[in-house]
Amino acid sequence: MNTEPSSEIIGAPLGAPVYELANVSKTYARNRVVALQDVNLTLHKGSFSSVIGSSGCGKSTLLKIMAGLIPPTKGRVILQGQPVKGARRDIGMMFQQATLFPWKTAVENIVLPIEIRDGKAAAMKAFDKAHDLLDVVGLKGFENVYPNELSGGMAQRASICRMLITEPAILLLDEPFSALDELSRDMMNMELQRICREQDATAFLVTHSIQEAVILSDDIYVMKPRPGRVAEIIDVDLPRPRTLNMMTTPKFGAIVDRIRRLLDKGEDM
Ligand SMILES: Nc1ncnc2c1ncn2[C@@H]1O[C@H](COP(=O)(O)OP(=O)(O)O)[C@@H](O)[C@H]1O
Ligand SMILES: [Mg+2]
Repeated sequence: MNTEPSSEIIGAPLGAPVYELANVSKTYARNRVVALQDVNLTLHKGSFSSVIGSSGCGKSTLLKIMAGLIPPTKGRVILQGQPVKGARRDIGMMFQQATLFPWKTAVENIVLPIEIRDGKAAAMKAFDKAHDLLDVVGLKGFENVYPNELSGGMAQRASICRMLITEPAILLLDEPFSALDELSRDMMNMELQRICREQDATAFLVTHSIQEAVILSDDIYVMKPRPGRVAEIIDVDLPRPRTLNMMTTPKFGAIVDRIRRLLDKGEDM
């Protein structure tokens, strides 16, 4: 009998639906570009999903619509049972560029969302938490450093802290690690996984990297351009927690190959 405790949960029951998109389409009025056509997706609580596809296939448009930053032309976006009608507090967003304010220290940048939301006094109180977060991402000792003294990877880690300080239940990530070297990216991926599990956050990641999508995700939405649409949803049934070693397994390789073939079919990446 195998009495060893297992930390692997395969086929864990799905959490409640967090996001529900039905027939979401977007045509930009200015140039009549059909950026999205009839996108349907459901994200469950605590799940990690990615969207992958060639440049210009509508990934950022999709994320902006989900965040309530731009409206869809058609279709429905429901978040925690409510239609999304504008920017929401329960969402944390992160972009490709670290966008830290150069005149603020790392810790001041991190408490900024609290300052904007709840005022200066609340931001002061959040300093301890900001210090703890910096410790988690390996930036202990850099609390009072200005962004120009941080490397690209360090700045990106600081912006992760800034995203997490408000403890958002939903993380929308638009190619957050694409400017990092491969090693830092692998580290950040594992860090992101750990944080998501700890906070039971629901994450949606836009990425260009098939490996990154596979190592992090439960589901991968493969998009095709002109018009931007979801061509296929890939279920990644690797056990959790994921480890970097899994990237060398045949199963990982097979999923990567499958996605590469889907993306290669007559499309440039
Ligand atoms: N604000 C905008 N106005 C007009 N067209 C846009 C705008 N934003 C994006 N587009 C167009 O919509 C399509 C999808 O863009 P985007 O969502 O940024 O794709 P991706 O993030 O996958 O690279 C592209 O053809 C792009 O040129
Ligand atoms: Mg984009």
